[in-house]
Amino acid sequence: MGRGAAVLLLAFVLFLASHSTPASAATKSYLVVSKDPVSVLLALIAGLTSNFKTLYVFKEIKGIGVQIDDVLASLLQNNPRVLAVIPDRLHNVYTTHSWGFLGLETYDGNKENQGWKWHASTFGEGVVIGHVDTGVSPISESFRDDDLSAPFGWLGRCDAGKDTTFRCNNKLIGARYFSAGIQSSNTLVGEADANSPRDYVGHGSHTLSTSAGGFVNGTSAFGHGKGTAKGGSPKARVASYKACYAPGCSSMDILAAILAAVADGVDVLSLSLGADAADYAADLMAIGTFYAVQKGVTVVCAGGNSGPQPGSVSNLAPWMLTVGASTMDRDFPAQVTYGGTTIKGLSLSTSTEPANKQYPMISGDKANPDGQSSGNSAFCVPDSLDPAKVSGKIVVCTRGVNGRVEKGMVVKKAGGIGMVLCNDESAGNGLIADPHLIPAAHCSYSDCKKLIAYLRSNESPVGNITVADAEFHVKPAPVMAFFSSRGPNTITPQILKPDITAPGVSVIAAISEEVSATGLDFDDRRVPYGIMSGTSMACPHVSGVAGLVKAEHTKWTPAMIKSAIMTTASNGDNDNGPIRDETGAAATPFSYGSGQLNPVQALDPGLVYDTTLYDYANFLCSLRPTQSQNLLPISIPFLVSLFLPANSNPFTCSMGVAVRPENLNYPSISAACLSVSNTTSVKRRVKNVVKGYSKYTVSIVQPTAGVKITVKPNTLSFSQIGEEKEFTVELDVDDAPAVAAANYVFGSIEWTDGKHRVRSPVVATTKCA
Ligand SMILES: *[C@@H]1O[C@H](CO)[C@@H](O)[C@H](O)[C@H]1NC(C)=O
Ligand SMILES: *[C@@H]1O[C@H](CO)[C@@H](O)[C@H](O)[C@H]1NC(C)=O
Ligand SMILES: *[C@@H]1O[C@H](CO)[C@@H](O)[C@H](O)[C@H]1NC(C)=O
Repeated sequence: MGRGAAVLLLAFVLFLASHSTPASAATKSYLVVSKDPVSVLLALIAGLTSNFKTLYVFKEIKGIGVQIDDVLASLLQNNPRVLAVIPDRLHNVYTTHSWGFLGLETYDGNKENQGWKWHASTFGEGVVIGHVDTGVSPISESFRDDDLSAPFGWLGRCDAGKDTTFRCNNKLIGARYFSAGIQSSNTLVGEADANSPRDYVGHGSHTLSTSAGGFVNGTSAFGHGKGTAKGGSPKARVASYKACYAPGCSSMDILAAILAAVADGVDVLSLSLGADAADYAADLMAIGTFYAVQKGVTVVCAGGNSGPQPGSVSNLAPWMLTVGASTMDRDFPAQVTYGGTTIKGLSLSTSTEPANKQYPMISGDKANPDGQSSGNSAFCVPDSLDPAKVSGKIVVCTRGVNGRVEKGMVVKKAGGIGMVLCNDESAGNGLIADPHLIPAAHCSYSDCKKLIAYLRSNESPVGNITVADAEFHVKPAPVMAFFSSRGPNTITPQILKPDITAPGVSVIAAISEEVSATGLDFDDRRVPYGIMSGTSMACPHVSGVAGLVKAEHTKWTPAMIKSAIMTTASNGDNDNGPIRDETGAAATPFSYGSGQLNPVQALDPGLVYDTTLYDYANFLCSLRPTQSQNLLPISIPFLVSLFLPANSNPFTCSMGVAVRPENLNYPSISAACLSVSNTTSVKRRVKNVVKGYSKYTVSIVQPTAGVKITVKPNTLSFSQIGEEKEFTVELDVDDAPAVAAANYVFGSIEWTDGKHRVRSPVVATTKCA
């Protein structure tokens, strides 16, 4: 069914629904949390109305998911026994707009295991990595259980629902689905999709196989060399918690999925999804993941694909490990040859055929049907191209507005034989290799400027597209992906987000047999492996490494694992330069957080920043009270109390020490609202995780302008594992106009004992949120 038809049908259903229940007010889904046990809360609601539906019972957090009308929602908000009434929201998976799939027989992909070397340690054995996503394809080779015995101590299950052929095994040890929220939201979900843990989108199989897909045989269509693995933790077991469907993910279903994963016993939870940033107290994903982290589950989240706008990053809570996306050192080159010149782009398509020929070219903005504007045809949106002008030609289309792969289909439908996909100025050099259905090349803004000048100055311009084999050891890499969402953190500027960057451009992994190759009309390719881009793809690389760290250090807390991954990240590229962004300029920690994921070093960080429940509690108490939309915010102290021993008093903010949010013991440092006349002191505490005596000294990279960083003391000694030492980072504004002009300044501190390097980026601004 086309998108237009789906929208029409949805409108029709809504129309019917609103007319079949004329008397009752519209209902919505809410999480309601109470001071009382769930049974008391349910009785309270039943006493107020008969018109409600229970979607979920969340005993762990004394909450329920209910469908109620506005009147009841505000009644409950005003009830003194009720702590929170939070409306459901729609979340989305974080692939870029147009993803696509491809059988990879045509080139030798993935020789280098997606650009990063991989530690021959335990391979994540003994660890369970779960994801909340669109489900999983149980028949994918990535989830074969060849050498794995039955899991030990696993509490999860394989809930196949109405799907009679879905099977788990000793690799895919759990699969469940949660759809009560999305089904109560007037959103259309396919009948089979809503009643099975199977992946009907492709996204979930891709993310899960990236984090922990098993060894894939070297002879597979995929072109893996022997001894390479696909997932970051190839011997980890995996469990799938489906909460996302073609239209999106209900935050209620996400919460249910997270709580189920915790109860089942996953060690790492990977969430390649999100919504616009929201106060932690009004965000079911933030609440659910807080619970998960307190229960010892490391939570890794995608940061979003709304870059490069500042402040676009989401999943901002400090207990999440939030991931940006960057390129790998592998390219899929595609050349455009025209007028004696060749420019280099990227593509996963074929070359123009027959070969050794040149074909007429036309710019999309000149290919509009007479009488229609060129605004649409410049972007090659559906039905914007005149077949009479396009037939037999290579069409130049501008990136944006509609999907990249779709543009090629539009050209094909109009009779075109190839496409050059051109970045505009804002997309700069950020290129993506897509599995286009016609010969195509995605080219940079600067290259396209030359091409377009050629088209303008020639009566009958000609050219062709040559797609070559994959290239390895491409420099520079990593480069930040254009789409990767950027800091600062719009909720708490004192917590730097994203935390880290990992490969998220043209990532090859398993997909689902249930979807067509691109999800677009008339594409009926079904393939076992696909290529996708997005912070969704970067996130499970980090989840996989979190699994490796957990397998080696089984007793570490999620905060310790997160710290190990962050402080060992690298802020340089493979060309001895800084990590760059899509414009070629040096990127900042607002793009990459602590830097690029470094799996080998993450296993041996030396020191870690651990963060306890009390640290989080004090941090939450230090935030402004939330005023979101007239809601009673969930009582964070109450949430904290859930984790205290049964006989202790409920936690209140006054029990904590007065702290400022930048003093949360976090592996990176961000200070907002710096005083221009006084020193700002930021406190930190590091824990030794290595046997024997060690002495660390600090080295500081000062910001280029305006702020001086001093660390006191500048040496720290340790003699035991688990020993913690405090230090203070002092920030002095020595040139206020320079800081104001720069807006934000960036430096770093690094502790080293000669063997380990424990680095934290430092971000400072005199701006106040
Ligand atoms: C892997 O490839 C080898 C060599 O072609 C073959 O003998 C073996 O059966 C394959 N293993 C699997 C699990 O497919
Ligand atoms: C493209 O055109 C050039 C120059 O005419 C030619 O050498 C090359 O073989 C052509 N490539 C393809 C794929 O047709
Ligand atoms: C600087 O610190 C002193 C001593 O703590 C305090 O009295 C003063 O108000 C501070 N000045 C500013 C501008 O914050």
